[in-house]
Amino acid sequence: MSSNPFDGTTVQQSRSVERLVAGQATSDGAGVKLTRVLTQNLQHRLDPFLMLDAFGSDNPNDYLAGFPDHPHRGFETVTYMIAGRMRHEDSAGHVGLLENGGVQWMTAGKGVIHSEIPQQEQGVMEGFQLWLNLPGRDKMQDPWYRDFANNDLPKRVTEQGVAVTVIAGSSHGVTGAVTRDATQPLYLDLHLPAGSRFEQPLPAGHNAFVYVYRGEVAIAGKAVPVQRMAILANTPEADGVVIEASADARVLLIAGKPLKEPIVQYGPFVMNSQQEIYQALNDFRDGRLGEKAGQPA
Ligand code: CO
Repeated sequence: MSSNPFDGTTVQQSRSVERLVAGQATSDGAGVKLTRVLTQNLQHRLDPFLMLDAFGSDNPNDYLAGFPDHPHRGFETVTYMIAGRMRHEDSAGHVGLLENGGVQWMTAGKGVIHSEIPQQEQGVMEGFQLWLNLPGRDKMQDPWYRDFANNDLPKRVTEQGVAVTVIAGSSHGVTGAVTRDATQPLYLDLHLPAGSRFEQPLPAGHNAFVYVYRGEVAIAGKAVPVQRMAILANTPEADGVVIEASADARVLLIAGKPLKEPIVQYGPFVMNSQQEIYQALNDFRDGRLGEKAGQPA
């Protein structure tokens, strides 16, 4: 038995769906088309998560330009590449190739400048980028970076045949690739066969959502169609979530402990105050945010 009361196997009462969100079509970087599922107006509701982008296209014009050099400060980026290949390079000296189910976890901390450039000229590029906030005390920590190939990600298959990949946190005794004390993120990729159900205990105070990227699921009797985010209600009596699939489905289940701190975002900088944003802009302008090897600012 696990000593963590929220790492058990059964849920007595599922959270309900508070709201379905379709996201907004937009483009970022040098013109990569994507859907911003978690937008800025949901940052308080889904604290500690700041953003979720879904990208997926078989048209190279939608992704070829990639994300040339740009800065970040004050939070973490988690990129999950379902299909395709993307090369990452940053000012802290990290280089990585992200592909086929791999995850890149980057803690920007006090600052990195990085690029994310597709390494393919045709075929499907599909994945997600999640932004996870850092508590104020950690926003100026040194940058940190890890690449996980799909084979390195902890996995399990439930009795009902649900394939669970544990990117962050812990699920049914399987500890994920990354854990964080302050925000306690849970990030699961679930492949649910038709007719299966999946139960995940969740602390009531943690904010949680589900994003369906294949098929359709039901949560507490409410249908969640493909390409929709279901924000899960923080009902005090609910001890987790139960996800049911009538047809084959793939979903992300993401939850975390809210920081309950002020959130001030200016583009790629997320701090606690306007003053800290001015500082980030000054540091970036003056080349103190980091510079990439061989590319003096
Ligand atoms: Co970036």
